[in-house]
Amino acid sequence: MYELHIADADAFGPAAADLLLGLLPDACLGLPTGHTPLPLYAELRRRGAAAWRLVMLDEYLGEARFQAWLREAIVAPLGIPEERFLPMPAAAAPGACEDFERRLRTWGGCDLQFLGLGANGHIGFNEPGSERDSRTRVVTLTPATARANAGYWPNAPVPEQAVTQGIGTILEARRHCLLVRGAAKAAILAAALRGPVTSAVPASFLQFSPALTVVADSAAAAGLGR
Ligand code: GLP
Repeated sequence: MYELHIADADAFGPAAADLLLGLLPDACLGLPTGHTPLPLYAELRRRGAAAWRLVMLDEYLGEARFQAWLREAIVAPLGIPEERFLPMPAAAAPGACEDFERRLRTWGGCDLQFLGLGANGHIGFNEPGSERDSRTRVVTLTPATARANAGYWPNAPVPEQAVTQGIGTILEARRHCLLVRGAAKAAILAAALRGPVTSAVPASFLQFSPALTVVADSAAAAGLGR
């Protein structure tokens, strides 16, 4: 079961941002990077300062590029202090992933986890084959994901590995919002929401979400039927 909000063009960011209206002022939000959430972040900047706690979803291994992205897109513009921002470790130091999970638990977990959708069905960097009970860990990116992500920083190669919240970690959030734009994601979105739950389509595990809202444009929602 999921709630679907269809929002095109300029309506996309406000539709996603409106999900925050029912939350407490200091709610804990899980945030993805990628192109899809950019209208959400633009809208949140427009709405102004907030007291939220922000948690990262994934990061490249060895390079804190996504952290820099989120700091510029939302942490700094909203004036979120350091103690309210939980970065994903970029280093494979022993215990770093466990420490991230421990800190997230100390915070009480995410009230609302926003997610983008990879063309191969990944969420975070949980590539096909990721299991339901996976935790925050180092993963190897598929060539397709590396190609898809190459455009984020055209002058810097995509690292072969990344760090991501696991599927099990993600599912512990009290609510999820899957953000999807564009016709190229229509088939994989339909597979995730209406197909069997399978590690071949990691986003299909969102069918276990306690409360899933999908914010999609009409092109991405085309495969969902009524
Ligand atoms: C990337 C990120 C995901 C993101 C997805 C979709 O690989 N690891 O967190 O949601 O791919 O990206 P985009 O929104 O740019 O299509």
